[in-house]
Amino acid sequence: MLQTEFGNTDALLAVLDRRRPDVAAHCRRVAAYSLRLAVQLGLPSGLIETIRTGALLHDVGKLVSPGRALCNAARPYARERRDFRAHPEHGREICRRSGFDDDVAAIVLHHHERLDGQGYPDRLTHPAIPFTARLVSVMDAFDALTSPRSCRESLTVEAARAWIARGAGARHCPWVVSAFLAMPREMLTLGREEAADACRRPEGQVLLPTDRLASLRQPALPSCKASLS
Ligand SMILES: [Fe+2]
Repeated sequence: MLQTEFGNTDALLAVLDRRRPDVAAHCRRVAAYSLRLAVQLGLPSGLIETIRTGALLHDVGKLVSPGRALCNAARPYARERRDFRAHPEHGREICRRSGFDDDVAAIVLHHHERLDGQGYPDRLTHPAIPFTARLVSVMDAFDALTSPRSCRESLTVEAARAWIARGAGARHCPWVVSAFLAMPREMLTLGREEAADACRRPEGQVLLPTDRLASLRQPALPSCKASLS
């Protein structure tokens, strides 16, 4: 059973709000997007709750890791890069010490893995990356791309969709990407209130017509969905 007392999530987000408000806001947006995609896919309620909680906490390790994002991707300082890349492991440890179960901790630990094994921290390849982490990874990328950073302009929704689509198969799970690309545009815009709603339990409403859901449940790569069960 999940050890997701809201007090734990709230307490961690409150610390993030004080020390890293940018990260806290990003986590809420990623949770809101991930929740919408998970509900749209008709996933079981327990799995949706795991995804929502894991997404809310996916970058909590940045409480420990250095604050600066690695904007200069061409010439990152080795130590800075190494420290930044430790945030999933720091986050997993924070989750464990806060009483969250292994499924939530796995999302936090593996949200930067890539299907081709070029991700971190464990350089996992496709079958070993939890489905939940693959889903949150796509929405994490979407929010990062559509949010302004100090080093670059934000992308439009359509430009971000195209960028993520190009990464299907190497960076991201093709099945998750196909479901993401099917999300109506209105599901990919968030107000402050809507992001805050991710902190509350979902109502369980299905956001797409049933016939569209049925088509989405036909995975492009059957093995990509295998770890769902
Ligand atoms: Fe991250």
